[in-house]
Amino acid sequence: MNRKFETNSKGHLVLGGVDAVELAKEYGTPLYVMEENTILSAMREYKASVDRFYNGNGLICFASKAFSCKEIYRIAMREGLGTDVVSGGELYTALSVGFPAEKICFHGNNKSDKELEYAVTSGVGRIVVDNAEELERLSKIAKKLGKTAPVMIRVKPGVDAHTHNFIMTGQIDSKFGFALETGEAMDIVKKTLDTPDVRLVGIHCHIGSQIHEMLPFTETAKIMMKFIADVKKETGAELDELNLGGGFGIIYTDEDKRIEYLSYMEAVSKVIHECADSMKLKLPFILMEPGRSIVGEAGTTLYTVGAVKTIPKIRTYVSVDGGMFDNPRYILYGAKYDFLLANKADKPADRKVTVAGKCCESGDLLGENVELGNAESGDICAVFSTGAYNYSMSSNYNRNVIPPVVFVKDGKSRVVVKPQTYEDLVRNDI
Ligand code: LLP
Repeated sequence: MNRKFETNSKGHLVLGGVDAVELAKEYGTPLYVMEENTILSAMREYKASVDRFYNGNGLICFASKAFSCKEIYRIAMREGLGTDVVSGGELYTALSVGFPAEKICFHGNNKSDKELEYAVTSGVGRIVVDNAEELERLSKIAKKLGKTAPVMIRVKPGVDAHTHNFIMTGQIDSKFGFALETGEAMDIVKKTLDTPDVRLVGIHCHIGSQIHEMLPFTETAKIMMKFIADVKKETGAELDELNLGGGFGIIYTDEDKRIEYLSYMEAVSKVIHECADSMKLKLPFILMEPGRSIVGEAGTTLYTVGAVKTIPKIRTYVSVDGGMFDNPRYILYGAKYDFLLANKADKPADRKVTVAGKCCESGDLLGENVELGNAESGDICAVFSTGAYNYSMSSNYNRNVIPPVVFVKDGKSRVVVKPQTYEDLVRNDI
């Protein structure tokens, strides 16, 4: 693997200035470790590019489905970001630390009345409407609460972003949003303009996740601007806001190539400015919802190696004390990761092994045919780029407890999510 990582004089992996083996000793394993400076620089880079390319006329909303806990909302809030939430639970967590409601976008293809009421009562800045029936429910709820609900419409721009099928949401056959080419999107825009107790602020799209090419993003920007122009032509209404979603790819393994956010921001903003000029539109307020690219590479999961089983002529299974309950991305998507023995970080990774989880399920693997050093029981195995969609997708399968999350920065560590306990597991059992 070509990944660069830091080691110390003991030959141990170092994360955020802290010896990873010491972290494992202090907090136990499995352990989610997040490098805070990586998160901060990604947030700052995004924010600075909004200032630079849109004159500050925009908002970066951290897509908290990638990683949701109180501390990340505090950090996003301090850094002047907004956030995207997709459930009452995420909304509750954000509001519980005083996140400004007007900087929250509320998403979901099937929001309940309870969630809509919660969003309207809390004064959420943008509710992204995903279907016609939801618009009607929202209008009734807003009326009942004596409020006007700010609405964005989720549009399917029909862009194929060449990504994994499970995480591709922009194409026409998707449970999310309204299609452009069928006229559905225009119909709902008109309907929203005529619906009482809601206020149409703009349109939203999200074309998929872990995208490494620029073209799908610039094409989408063009399509969305053209739609704003069409809406103006057909209804006379000029929409104020355009939300371009998230989806920027990160580095998991050598197979991935990085899009520099700055060049992405520059290319997309160029399209938006050109379209605004040629279509005689005002420049919309731009929202973006990066999730993975803010937290993904910040995260490393540490495990302890237990059983090492070699099946002659077939493969070696290196079993660790975590698995699909802390990282379901291999079993769900066949996701690939880089692995390293944190206590032997200076030794060559000269074997190919299968890293297995501890769940009672043959498919519970973390990686197949991955490069690793000579793994022995008691070694600490690190898996990189696990900051996004790992903790947030964890579960209690097999009644395993969800590991704690520790932030590391400038040689210091602190717990931001405490470990679950067995008592937590039975807390709601009758
Ligand atoms: N905005 C919307 C409306 C979204 O649906 C998503 C992701 C994002 C923003 C953030 O996308 P990001 O920048 O993180 O790519 N569990 C999958 C990823 C699912 C993504 C769902 N939506 C995974 O582990 O790869």
